[in-house]
Amino acid sequence: MPRSSIRRIFSAVKELTDRGEQVIPLHIGDPDFELPPRIATGVAQAISRGYTHYGPVRGITPLREAVAKHVAHRFGIPCADASAPNGDALSMEHVIMSQGATQALNAVLQLTCDRGHTVLLPEVHFPNYMQQCVLAGVRAKLYPLDDNFQPQLDQLDELVDESVKAILINTPSNPTGALFSPSVIHYLYRFAQRYNLWIISDEAYMDYVYDSEYQSPLSVDWEQPPELRRVLAVMSFSKSYAATGLRIGWTVCPRVSLAQQLGLMNEPLVGSITTPLQYGLIEAFREDDTTVRRQSLNKRRLLAAKVLNEHGFKVEPVAGGMFYFLDISATGLDSDTFADRLLAEEHVAVVPGSGFGLEPSYHADGSVEFAPNELAARCVRLCFAVPSDTLTDGVKRLAQFYSRYFRRQSAGSAGNL
Ligand SMILES: Cc1ncc(COP(=O)(O)O)c(C=O)c1O
Repeated sequence: MPRSSIRRIFSAVKELTDRGEQVIPLHIGDPDFELPPRIATGVAQAISRGYTHYGPVRGITPLREAVAKHVAHRFGIPCADASAPNGDALSMEHVIMSQGATQALNAVLQLTCDRGHTVLLPEVHFPNYMQQCVLAGVRAKLYPLDDNFQPQLDQLDELVDESVKAILINTPSNPTGALFSPSVIHYLYRFAQRYNLWIISDEAYMDYVYDSEYQSPLSVDWEQPPELRRVLAVMSFSKSYAATGLRIGWTVCPRVSLAQQLGLMNEPLVGSITTPLQYGLIEAFREDDTTVRRQSLNKRRLLAAKVLNEHGFKVEPVAGGMFYFLDISATGLDSDTFADRLLAEEHVAVVPGSGFGLEPSYHADGSVEFAPNELAARCVRLCFAVPSDTLTDGVKRLAQFYSRYFRRQSAGSAGNL
Protein backbone atom coordinates (compact mmCIF):
# COMPACT_ATOMS: atom_id res chain seq x y z
CA MET A 1 0.00 0.00 0.00
CA PRO A 2 1.50 3.37 -0.93
CA ARG A 3 2.20 5.72 1.93
CA SER A 4 0.20 8.98 1.85
CA SER A 5 2.40 11.76 0.48
CA ILE A 6 0.75 14.07 3.01
CA ARG A 7 2.14 11.95 5.86
CA ARG A 8 5.59 11.89 4.20
CA ILE A 9 5.74 15.68 4.36
CA PHE A 10 4.44 15.63 7.95
CA SER A 11 7.49 13.56 8.90
CA ALA A 12 9.90 15.82 6.99
CA VAL A 13 8.45 18.88 8.73
CA LYS A 14 8.69 17.21 12.12
CA GLU A 15 12.38 16.50 11.56
CA LEU A 16 12.99 20.19 10.93
CA THR A 17 10.86 21.47 13.79
CA ASP A 18 12.47 18.95 16.19
CA ARG A 19 15.76 20.67 15.32
CA GLY A 20 14.20 23.98 16.35
CA GLU A 21 13.61 25.29 12.81
CA GLN A 22 10.48 27.30 11.95
CA VAL A 23 8.36 25.94 9.09
CA ILE A 24 5.43 27.63 7.33
CA PRO A 25 2.84 24.85 7.27
CA LEU A 26 0.91 25.00 4.00
CA HIS A 27 0.72 21.22 3.84
CA ILE A 28 -1.94 20.38 6.40
CA GLY A 29 -5.59 20.18 5.34
CA ASP A 30 -6.85 21.15 8.78
CA PRO A 31 -8.39 24.61 9.09
CA ASP A 32 -7.12 26.87 11.87
CA PHE A 33 -10.66 27.39 13.26
CA GLU A 34 -11.50 26.49 16.84
CA LEU A 35 -14.12 23.89 17.57
CA PRO A 36 -17.41 25.84 18.09
CA PRO A 37 -17.79 26.24 21.90
CA ARG A 38 -21.36 24.83 21.86
CA ILE A 39 -19.94 21.52 20.59
CA ALA A 40 -17.16 21.48 23.18
CA THR A 41 -19.69 22.18 25.94
CA GLY A 42 -22.03 19.51 24.58
CA VAL A 43 -19.21 16.94 24.67
CA ALA A 44 -18.22 17.92 28.23
CA GLN A 45 -21.84 17.73 29.41
CA ALA A 46 -22.28 14.32 27.75
CA ILE A 47 -19.26 13.03 29.66
CA SER A 48 -20.41 14.47 32.98
CA ARG A 49 -23.86 12.94 32.45
CA GLY A 50 -22.29 9.54 31.97
CA TYR A 51 -22.77 9.13 28.21
CA THR A 52 -19.49 7.29 28.11
CA HIS A 53 -20.61 3.77 27.32
CA TYR A 54 -20.89 1.84 24.06
CA GLY A 55 -23.57 3.32 21.85
CA PRO A 56 -25.79 1.94 19.09
CA VAL A 57 -23.75 0.52 16.23
CA ARG A 58 -25.27 2.85 13.61
CA GLY A 59 -24.83 5.96 15.75
CA ILE A 60 -27.03 7.61 18.38
CA THR A 61 -30.61 8.33 17.36
CA PRO A 62 -30.75 12.10 18.10
CA LEU A 63 -27.64 12.72 16.01
CA ARG A 64 -28.86 10.60 13.09
CA GLU A 65 -32.17 12.50 13.24
CA ALA A 66 -30.40 15.85 13.29
CA VAL A 67 -28.19 14.84 10.35
CA ALA A 68 -31.18 13.61 8.31
CA LYS A 69 -33.01 16.92 8.87
CA HIS A 70 -29.92 18.96 8.09
CA VAL A 71 -29.13 17.09 4.85
CA ALA A 72 -32.77 17.08 3.69
CA HIS A 73 -33.07 20.81 4.31
CA ARG A 74 -29.74 21.60 2.68
CA PHE A 75 -30.43 19.64 -0.51
CA GLY A 76 -34.19 20.13 -0.83
CA ILE A 77 -34.99 16.47 -0.18
CA PRO A 78 -38.29 15.55 1.54
CA CYS A 79 -37.68 14.56 5.15
CA ALA A 80 -39.65 11.89 6.97
CA ASP A 81 -40.34 11.75 10.67
CA ALA A 82 -38.11 9.13 12.22
CA SER A 83 -41.12 7.48 13.83
CA ALA A 84 -42.87 7.14 10.47
CA PRO A 85 -40.14 6.57 7.87
CA ASN A 86 -41.29 6.53 4.31
CA GLY A 87 -38.99 5.12 1.64
CA ASP A 88 -39.46 8.18 -0.59
CA ALA A 89 -38.31 10.61 2.05
CA LEU A 90 -35.01 10.91 3.87
CA SER A 91 -35.05 9.85 7.52
CA MET A 92 -32.50 8.83 10.13
CA GLU A 93 -32.91 5.27 8.85
CA HIS A 94 -30.86 6.30 5.79
CA VAL A 95 -28.06 7.80 7.89
CA ILE A 96 -25.16 5.76 9.30
CA MET A 97 -22.59 7.47 11.51
CA SER A 98 -18.88 6.68 11.13
CA GLN A 99 -15.48 7.52 12.60
CA GLY A 100 -14.89 10.36 10.17
CA ALA A 101 -15.55 10.33 6.45
CA THR A 102 -12.45 8.15 6.22
CA GLN A 103 -14.07 5.13 7.82
CA ALA A 104 -17.30 5.72 5.89
CA LEU A 105 -15.41 5.80 2.58
CA ASN A 106 -13.67 2.58 3.49
CA ALA A 107 -16.95 0.86 4.35
CA VAL A 108 -18.83 2.24 1.35
CA LEU A 109 -16.10 1.03 -0.99
CA GLN A 110 -16.38 -2.48 0.46
CA LEU A 111 -20.17 -2.34 0.38
CA THR A 112 -20.31 -1.45 -3.31
CA CYS A 113 -17.30 -3.39 -4.62
CA ASP A 114 -16.15 -6.93 -3.90
CA ARG A 115 -12.56 -8.12 -4.12
CA GLY A 116 -11.58 -8.04 -7.82
CA HIS A 117 -14.20 -5.45 -8.75
CA THR A 118 -13.18 -2.03 -10.03
CA VAL A 119 -13.96 1.50 -8.87
CA LEU A 120 -13.40 4.57 -11.07
CA LEU A 121 -11.42 7.26 -9.23
CA PRO A 122 -10.56 10.76 -10.48
CA GLU A 123 -7.09 10.96 -12.00
CA VAL A 124 -6.08 13.30 -9.16
CA HIS A 125 -7.59 12.32 -5.81
CA PHE A 126 -7.35 12.16 -2.02
CA PRO A 127 -4.67 9.44 -1.46
CA ASN A 128 -6.72 7.48 1.08
CA TYR A 129 -9.03 6.25 -1.71
CA MET A 130 -6.23 4.28 -3.34
CA GLN A 131 -5.02 2.94 0.01
CA GLN A 132 -8.57 1.77 0.77
CA CYS A 133 -8.73 0.01 -2.61
CA VAL A 134 -5.51 -1.84 -1.80
CA LEU A 135 -6.84 -2.91 1.60
CA ALA A 136 -10.12 -4.12 0.11
CA GLY A 137 -8.55 -5.88 -2.89
CA VAL A 138 -10.59 -3.59 -5.14
CA ARG A 139 -8.98 -2.40 -8.36
CA ALA A 140 -8.95 1.28 -9.24
CA LYS A 141 -9.08 2.82 -12.71
CA LEU A 142 -8.42 6.52 -12.94
CA TYR A 143 -10.77 8.68 -15.02
CA PRO A 144 -8.97 11.47 -16.86
CA LEU A 145 -9.24 15.11 -15.85
CA ASP A 146 -8.50 18.13 -18.05
CA ASP A 147 -6.13 20.97 -17.14
CA ASN A 148 -8.89 22.53 -15.02
CA PHE A 149 -9.31 19.21 -13.19
CA GLN A 150 -12.74 18.62 -14.70
CA PRO A 151 -13.60 15.07 -15.84
CA GLN A 152 -13.06 14.35 -19.52
CA LEU A 153 -16.59 13.12 -20.00
CA ASP A 154 -16.12 11.79 -23.52
CA GLN A 155 -13.48 9.35 -22.24
CA LEU A 156 -15.53 7.73 -19.49
CA ASP A 157 -17.33 5.05 -21.51
CA GLU A 158 -14.14 3.36 -22.60
CA LEU A 159 -13.16 2.73 -18.97
CA VAL A 160 -16.19 0.60 -18.21
CA ASP A 161 -16.11 -3.18 -18.29
CA GLU A 162 -17.96 -5.88 -16.37
CA SER A 163 -15.79 -5.44 -13.29
CA VAL A 164 -16.59 -1.74 -12.79
CA LYS A 165 -19.17 -1.29 -10.02
CA ALA A 166 -18.78 2.28 -8.80
CA ILE A 167 -17.51 5.75 -9.63
CA LEU A 168 -16.19 8.08 -6.96
CA ILE A 169 -16.86 11.81 -7.18
CA ASN A 170 -15.22 14.35 -4.88
CA THR A 171 -16.48 17.88 -5.41
CA PRO A 172 -15.16 20.30 -4.28
CA SER A 173 -11.98 18.31 -4.61
CA ASN A 174 -9.07 17.71 -2.34
CA PRO A 175 -6.46 18.44 -3.70
CA THR A 176 -7.55 20.38 -6.80
CA GLY A 177 -10.21 22.78 -5.44
CA ALA A 178 -12.26 22.05 -8.58
CA LEU A 179 -16.04 22.07 -8.33
CA PHE A 180 -18.19 20.03 -10.71
CA SER A 181 -20.99 22.09 -12.24
CA PRO A 182 -24.64 20.90 -12.15
CA SER A 183 -24.36 19.84 -15.81
CA VAL A 184 -21.26 17.72 -15.09
CA ILE A 185 -23.00 16.13 -12.09
CA HIS A 186 -26.06 15.36 -14.24
CA TYR A 187 -23.82 13.88 -16.93
CA LEU A 188 -21.99 11.69 -14.39
CA TYR A 189 -25.31 10.60 -12.93
CA ARG A 190 -26.63 9.53 -16.36
CA PHE A 191 -23.33 7.75 -17.01
CA ALA A 192 -23.72 5.81 -13.74
CA GLN A 193 -27.32 4.98 -14.66
CA ARG A 194 -26.28 3.73 -18.10
CA TYR A 195 -23.82 1.22 -16.63
CA ASN A 196 -25.69 0.61 -13.39
CA LEU A 197 -22.84 1.91 -11.22
CA TRP A 198 -22.94 3.13 -7.65
CA ILE A 199 -21.86 6.72 -7.10
CA ILE A 200 -19.66 7.22 -4.05
CA SER A 201 -19.89 10.94 -3.42
CA ASP A 202 -17.26 12.33 -1.06
CA GLU A 203 -18.73 15.64 0.11
CA ALA A 204 -16.23 16.46 2.86
CA TYR A 205 -15.88 20.04 1.50
CA MET A 206 -19.53 20.72 0.65
CA ASP A 207 -19.62 23.80 2.90
CA TYR A 208 -16.60 25.40 1.22
CA VAL A 209 -17.94 26.51 -2.15
CA TYR A 210 -17.29 30.16 -2.90
CA ASP A 211 -18.81 31.85 -5.94
CA SER A 212 -21.16 29.21 -7.30
CA GLU A 213 -23.96 26.90 -6.26
CA TYR A 214 -22.99 23.54 -4.85
CA GLN A 215 -24.60 20.63 -6.68
CA SER A 216 -24.65 17.36 -4.78
CA PRO A 217 -25.43 14.18 -6.74
CA LEU A 218 -27.69 13.43 -3.79
CA SER A 219 -30.35 15.92 -4.98
CA VAL A 220 -30.41 14.26 -8.40
CA ASP A 221 -30.61 10.80 -6.84
CA TRP A 222 -33.53 11.61 -4.57
CA GLU A 223 -35.65 12.59 -7.58
CA GLN A 224 -35.63 8.86 -8.43
CA PRO A 225 -37.78 6.17 -6.81
CA PRO A 226 -35.86 4.38 -4.00
CA GLU A 227 -35.13 1.21 -5.99
CA LEU A 228 -33.34 3.22 -8.71
CA ARG A 229 -31.22 5.38 -6.43
CA ARG A 230 -27.46 4.86 -6.49
CA VAL A 231 -25.68 7.62 -4.53
CA LEU A 232 -23.88 6.93 -1.25
CA ALA A 233 -23.02 10.39 0.02
CA VAL A 234 -20.20 10.54 2.54
CA MET A 235 -20.12 13.68 4.69
CA SER A 236 -18.25 14.83 7.77
CA PHE A 237 -18.17 17.26 10.66
CA SER A 238 -14.39 17.52 10.20
CA LYS A 239 -14.02 20.46 7.84
CA SER A 240 -17.47 22.04 8.08
CA TYR A 241 -17.45 22.31 11.89
CA ALA A 242 -13.71 22.57 12.55
CA ALA A 243 -13.87 19.14 14.18
CA THR A 244 -11.16 17.15 12.41
CA GLY A 245 -9.93 15.53 15.63
CA LEU A 246 -13.38 14.43 16.74
CA ARG A 247 -13.42 11.91 13.89
CA ILE A 248 -17.16 11.81 13.23
CA GLY A 249 -18.81 11.61 9.82
CA TRP A 250 -21.77 9.89 8.22
CA THR A 251 -23.15 8.33 5.06
CA VAL A 252 -26.53 9.05 3.51
CA CYS A 253 -27.69 5.82 1.88
CA PRO A 254 -30.16 5.65 -1.00
CA ARG A 255 -32.31 2.94 0.61
CA VAL A 256 -32.95 1.78 4.15
CA SER A 257 -31.91 -1.80 3.29
CA LEU A 258 -28.52 -0.57 2.16
CA ALA A 259 -28.14 1.58 5.28
CA GLN A 260 -28.79 -1.53 7.36
CA GLN A 261 -25.94 -3.34 5.61
CA LEU A 262 -23.62 -0.37 6.04
CA GLY A 263 -24.65 -0.15 9.71
CA LEU A 264 -23.81 -3.81 10.16
CA MET A 265 -20.32 -3.11 8.79
CA ASN A 266 -19.73 -0.78 11.74
CA GLU A 267 -19.74 -3.85 14.02
CA PRO A 268 -16.42 -5.29 12.79
CA LEU A 269 -14.94 -1.93 11.77
CA VAL A 270 -15.49 0.21 14.87
CA GLY A 271 -17.94 -1.52 17.19
CA SER A 272 -19.76 1.71 17.79
CA ILE A 273 -19.05 5.42 17.37
CA THR A 274 -17.56 7.53 20.19
CA THR A 275 -20.60 8.25 22.35
CA PRO A 276 -19.98 11.64 24.06
CA LEU A 277 -18.67 13.20 20.85
CA GLN A 278 -21.87 12.30 19.06
CA TYR A 279 -23.92 13.97 21.81
CA GLY A 280 -21.77 17.08 21.49
CA LEU A 281 -22.16 17.17 17.73
CA ILE A 282 -25.96 17.34 17.95
CA GLU A 283 -25.21 20.98 18.81
CA ALA A 284 -23.37 21.51 15.50
CA PHE A 285 -26.48 22.25 13.46
CA ARG A 286 -28.15 24.48 16.09
CA GLU A 287 -26.32 27.52 14.71
CA ASP A 288 -25.17 28.27 11.19
CA ASP A 289 -21.59 29.35 11.70
CA THR A 290 -20.42 27.50 8.58
CA THR A 291 -21.10 30.79 6.75
CA VAL A 292 -18.60 32.59 8.99
CA ARG A 293 -15.95 29.94 8.36
CA ARG A 294 -16.65 29.95 4.62
CA GLN A 295 -16.27 33.75 4.50
CA SER A 296 -13.03 33.55 6.42
CA LEU A 297 -11.62 30.89 4.07
CA ASN A 298 -12.89 32.83 1.08
CA LYS A 299 -10.75 35.84 2.10
CA ARG A 300 -7.70 33.62 2.33
CA ARG A 301 -8.50 31.89 -0.96
CA LEU A 302 -8.49 35.32 -2.67
CA LEU A 303 -5.41 36.45 -0.73
CA ALA A 304 -3.42 33.39 -1.87
CA ALA A 305 -4.38 34.02 -5.51
CA LYS A 306 -3.50 37.72 -5.21
CA VAL A 307 -0.07 37.10 -3.68
CA LEU A 308 0.71 34.35 -6.21
CA ASN A 309 -0.29 36.56 -9.15
CA GLU A 310 1.64 39.56 -7.78
CA HIS A 311 4.76 37.39 -7.64
CA GLY A 312 4.49 36.09 -11.15
CA PHE A 313 2.65 32.81 -10.53
CA LYS A 314 -0.54 33.10 -12.59
CA VAL A 315 -3.58 31.40 -11.06
CA GLU A 316 -7.36 31.79 -10.97
CA PRO A 317 -8.97 31.53 -7.52
CA VAL A 318 -10.13 27.95 -6.91
CA ALA A 319 -13.88 27.31 -6.83
CA GLY A 320 -14.05 25.31 -3.60
CA GLY A 321 -12.31 23.50 -0.78
CA MET A 322 -9.18 24.82 0.89
CA PHE A 323 -6.37 24.00 -1.51
CA TYR A 324 -4.52 25.22 -4.58
CA PHE A 325 -3.03 22.50 -6.75
CA LEU A 326 -0.31 24.47 -8.50
CA ASP A 327 1.37 23.46 -11.73
CA ILE A 328 5.10 23.87 -11.03
CA SER A 329 6.36 21.97 -14.08
CA ALA A 330 7.85 25.13 -15.68
CA THR A 331 10.59 24.95 -13.03
CA GLY A 332 11.81 21.70 -14.55
CA LEU A 333 11.35 20.00 -11.15
CA ASP A 334 8.98 17.17 -10.41
CA SER A 335 6.57 17.68 -7.54
CA ASP A 336 8.59 15.68 -4.99
CA THR A 337 11.82 17.53 -5.72
CA PHE A 338 9.98 20.87 -5.71
CA ALA A 339 8.35 20.16 -2.32
CA ASP A 340 11.60 18.84 -0.78
CA ARG A 341 13.68 21.79 -1.99
CA LEU A 342 11.03 24.35 -1.05
CA LEU A 343 11.05 22.89 2.46
CA ALA A 344 14.85 22.81 2.64
CA GLU A 345 15.51 26.24 1.07
CA GLU A 346 12.50 28.30 2.17
CA HIS A 347 11.07 26.29 5.07
CA VAL A 348 7.66 26.25 3.41
CA ALA A 349 5.81 22.93 3.52
CA VAL A 350 3.53 21.90 0.65
CA VAL A 351 2.53 18.40 -0.47
CA PRO A 352 3.94 16.93 -3.71
CA GLY A 353 1.19 16.21 -6.19
CA SER A 354 2.65 12.83 -7.13
CA GLY A 355 0.91 11.07 -4.23
CA PHE A 356 -2.50 12.35 -5.37
CA GLY A 357 -2.33 10.51 -8.68
CA LEU A 358 -0.79 7.10 -8.33
CA GLU A 359 -1.59 4.97 -11.36
CA PRO A 360 -1.84 1.29 -10.37
CA SER A 361 -0.52 -1.62 -12.47
CA TYR A 362 -1.99 -4.93 -11.37
CA HIS A 363 0.08 -8.10 -11.80
CA ALA A 364 -1.10 -11.67 -12.21
CA ASP A 365 0.36 -12.67 -8.81
CA GLY A 366 -1.95 -10.15 -7.11
CA SER A 367 0.73 -7.54 -6.46
CA VAL A 368 0.28 -3.90 -7.43
CA GLU A 369 2.80 -1.28 -8.49
CA PHE A 370 2.17 2.45 -8.52
CA ALA A 371 3.61 5.24 -10.66
CA PRO A 372 2.62 8.89 -10.37
CA ASN A 373 0.61 10.11 -13.34
CA GLU A 374 1.80 13.11 -15.28
CA LEU A 375 -0.98 15.51 -14.28
CA ALA A 376 -0.45 14.97 -10.54
CA ALA A 377 3.34 14.85 -10.72
CA ARG A 378 3.55 18.36 -12.13
CA CYS A 379 1.67 19.96 -9.24
CA VAL A 380 2.01 20.66 -5.54
CA ARG A 381 -0.81 21.16 -3.04
CA LEU A 382 -0.96 24.28 -0.94
CA CYS A 383 -3.53 24.65 1.85
CA PHE A 384 -4.78 28.20 2.41
CA ALA A 385 -6.61 27.50 5.71
CA VAL A 386 -3.84 29.15 7.77
CA PRO A 387 -3.66 32.67 9.30
CA SER A 388 -3.41 35.42 6.66
CA ASP A 389 0.10 36.61 7.59
CA THR A 390 1.45 33.04 7.55
CA LEU A 391 -0.27 32.50 4.21
CA THR A 392 1.12 35.70 2.72
CA ASP A 393 4.64 34.90 3.85
CA GLY A 394 4.48 31.25 2.71
CA VAL A 395 2.92 31.98 -0.65
CA LYS A 396 5.38 34.81 -1.34
CA ARG A 397 8.32 32.51 -0.59
CA LEU A 398 6.82 29.76 -2.75
CA ALA A 399 6.29 32.15 -5.67
CA GLN A 400 9.84 33.52 -5.35
CA PHE A 401 11.26 30.01 -5.18
CA TYR A 402 9.20 29.12 -8.25
CA SER A 403 10.49 32.17 -10.17
CA ARG A 404 14.09 31.39 -9.24
CA TYR A 405 13.87 27.84 -10.59
CA PHE A 406 11.79 28.97 -13.56
CA ARG A 407 14.52 31.46 -14.55
CA ARG A 408 17.23 28.83 -14.11
CA GLN A 409 15.23 26.39 -16.19
CA SER A 410 14.60 28.98 -18.94
CA ALA A 411 18.28 29.96 -18.96
CA GLY A 412 19.22 26.26 -19.08
CA SER A 413 16.88 25.53 -21.98
CA ALA A 414 18.13 28.60 -23.85
CA GLY A 415 21.70 27.38 -23.23
CA ASN A 416 20.81 23.98 -24.66
CA LEU A 417 19.51 25.47 -27.90
C1 LIG B 1 -11.58 14.62 0.21
C2 LIG B 1 -11.56 14.14 1.61
N1 LIG B 1 -12.39 13.17 1.96
C3 LIG B 1 -12.41 12.69 3.22
C4 LIG B 1 -11.57 13.19 4.18
C5 LIG B 1 -11.58 12.60 5.54
O1 LIG B 1 -12.33 13.34 6.41
P1 LIG B 1 -12.55 12.87 7.91
O2 LIG B 1 -11.75 13.77 8.77
O3 LIG B 1 -14.03 13.08 8.13
O4 LIG B 1 -12.18 11.45 8.03
C6 LIG B 1 -10.69 14.21 3.86
C7 LIG B 1 -9.75 14.73 4.87
O5 LIG B 1 -8.83 15.44 4.62
C8 LIG B 1 -10.67 14.70 2.54
O6 LIG B 1 -9.84 15.67 2.18
